[in-house]
Amino acid sequence: MMGDEIQEYFKTGLEVAKEAGERVKTDFYKIKKIEMKENYADLVTETDKAVEDLIMLRLSKKYPSHKFIGEETVSAGGHCELTVDPTWIIDPIDGTTNFVHGIPHTCISIGLAVNKQIVAGIVHAPVLGETYTAIKGHGAFCNDDKLSVSAIQELKRGVVIIEGGTSRVPEVLDPKISNVKSIIENCHGVRAYGSAAINMCFVARGTHAAYLEHGIHVWDIAAGKLIVEEAGGVVCDPCGDTLDLMNRRVLAACNKEVAGQISKITTNISLERD
Ligand code: IPD
Repeated sequence: MMGDEIQEYFKTGLEVAKEAGERVKTDFYKIKKIEMKENYADLVTETDKAVEDLIMLRLSKKYPSHKFIGEETVSAGGHCELTVDPTWIIDPIDGTTNFVHGIPHTCISIGLAVNKQIVAGIVHAPVLGETYTAIKGHGAFCNDDKLSVSAIQELKRGVVIIEGGTSRVPEVLDPKISNVKSIIENCHGVRAYGSAAINMCFVARGTHAAYLEHGIHVWDIAAGKLIVEEAGGVVCDPCGDTLDLMNRRVLAACNKEVAGQISKITTNISLERD
């Protein structure tokens, strides 16, 4: 696929994300209609569904041969398969819990994969007024500012993002809690912003040394992966291996050294694949 084509897809993706952002921003200040998915902590709202429908409709009309992986479509029993075909990977609202509670860290995440590689990423956070973007080989940006990861080499000099996630199963929760303890013992502090995509953008912009989570899905991390890499960072499996986008876990860091230090002190957790 030619660079011009990818630029054109990116431009369309960005326009659609901005349109979707208007809806998210309007609904953010209203009373929400909420449903539960896997458990009481895994939420979906009417807005998540409407925004996913809008994004899919716009993109599929323009690119009828492209494939789609959308959070709410998959949750409703849809197919979740990443093939070599151009595939739009969509989280209509990443940070749904934040959206429900009126916390502004909520975004639309759109990644475009070609040959199973992410070639364009858009994380549009309409309430924060921040749009993070990347096209493979062309750097990463927040609005018009170019992003670079932190230059620290030692975990002990950085702030790390680690999320609780939505699972309430002891086999998942217990090792997560001990990972939090190990990380606190080895860095300046931990944070959790409630949106995997925004967490990754915070690593890309250099304010946070790393982000670790077990339990995420491909739509939470597809766009963020490219944004971190284009800002000079690394995105891998928490054990240090190459990232498998469907494996439900991620470690994004400012460099290999910091990623390696986190891998060494944390326990990896296996989850059912996407
Ligand atoms: C969630 C957010 C959250 C993470 C969860 C995700 P959603 O995505 O990214 O930060 O901890 O694991 O499920 O449900 O708001 O799209």
